[in-house]
Amino acid sequence: MLLNLQNITKTIGIKTLYTGLDLTIQPGERVGLIGRNGIGKTTLLGIMAGTDHDYAGSVDSRRGLIIASTTQEHHGIADKPVLEYILENLPDYARLKHIIDTYPLEMGDDMAKISIYSDALTRFGEMGYYDAEADVRAELAIFQLPPERIDGPFGHLSGGQKRFVELVKVTLSDADLALIDEPTNHMDYVAKQIFIDWLKKSKQSVVVVTHDRDVLVHVNRIVEIKAREVLSFPGNYDAYLRQNGAATAKAIDSYENAQKRLVKLEKAIRDAKAGKAGWSGTADKTNPFMLLEKRLSKERDELQDTMTKPDFWIDQETLDQQQDKVVAKYDKYKARNIRLRTGGEHRARSLFAIEDISLGYKSALFEPVNLDLAVGERLQIKGRNGLGKSTLVKPC
Ligand SMILES: Nc1ncnc2c1ncn2[C@@H]1O[C@H](COP(=O)(O)OP(=O)(O)OP(=O)(O)O)[C@@H](O)[C@H]1O
Ligand SMILES: [Mg+2]
Repeated sequence: MLLNLQNITKTIGIKTLYTGLDLTIQPGERVGLIGRNGIGKTTLLGIMAGTDHDYAGSVDSRRGLIIASTTQEHHGIADKPVLEYILENLPDYARLKHIIDTYPLEMGDDMAKISIYSDALTRFGEMGYYDAEADVRAELAIFQLPPERIDGPFGHLSGGQKRFVELVKVTLSDADLALIDEPTNHMDYVAKQIFIDWLKKSKQSVVVVTHDRDVLVHVNRIVEIKAREVLSFPGNYDAYLRQNGAATAKAIDSYENAQKRLVKLEKAIRDAKAGKAGWSGTADKTNPFMLLEKRLSKERDELQDTMTKPDFWIDQETLDQQQDKVVAKYDKYKARNIRLRTGGEHRARSLFAIEDISLGYKSALFEPVNLDLAVGERLQIKGRNGLGKSTLVKPC
């Protein structure tokens, strides 16, 4: 066991994210953590990383466990050079570097300090930190980050570049457990493939939050946060979809049975009420219909409490393999019914037109471009990370 979360209950404001959640991460596991937006995936990573202590329950870790995690928020580091940001965040790097840089100036013949200094030198070597700078440069070069960006400020990175800088920070940490949040968002196909290749051969345990199927096919367990708990599915995303398809079809059946039972109960209660009203027994005897109504009402109330409609979802591919009966039931109860309006008639009214636009910071990012957009048109802007997509759409 690397990490063991037991009976975790977490509330933010009035919203309870999980109640009594249990989750264990084993050595060598690659876990894909999934769940709908706002369900608490990022929050759970924070609890696992030890940065969030505001919960009930316990988190135990193997002795000496080193955890590295990506960050999505980057406050106050806009001016920090990218290289420095990564180095400072390697496990124990900042502390060891401080000792190595400052102790020789002040330790004199203080034996305690000399010992701390020599331990720091040893540890720095063991962690491979003498080569850390070269390693960072080499890793970022694999992601094709231009060298001037490596020594430049973090704030000058594009969205996708920030993601892979975060990844390099984690992959170079040599931690036992890597916690990675939505790595491939904003990433171009080259960067994404580099991440997937790393994931496939990683010896570290990894928990990755993602909705990206290309990533999820390479994990060996899917953990889904749903209805304030976690469900664990062995295998990759394809295996999860099959298991989810079967479990959802079963859940729909029991929901439908409960609904049928409810209709029957309502009728039986109405009959009991009518019987109660029409009962002409002697006053000293209890009206038997009263007891019947009470018993049936209790059953109905209990059923209503337990049968809140679950979040039914089956992916299209798995659904296509189901029998017509199952598909019809699914269509009746599915959680979301997303329909795209297509074929609508739009007049080609121009929304905007730009001519010969060229943008950049010190130098132009791209050749002058021309763009027209008509009302109702959808435009996709594609391109490698850092080529100027966000700059192009930014309001002036
Ligand atoms: N600091 C905060 N203050 C108030 N509410 C918060 C805070 N942080 C998170 N939340 C709420 O807690 C819930 C869980 O947030 P979290 O970021 O963990 O979700 P998520 O599953 O990672 O979502 P997404 O898929 O959108 O990244 C959300 O409803 C969010 O609005
Ligand atoms: Mg999140």
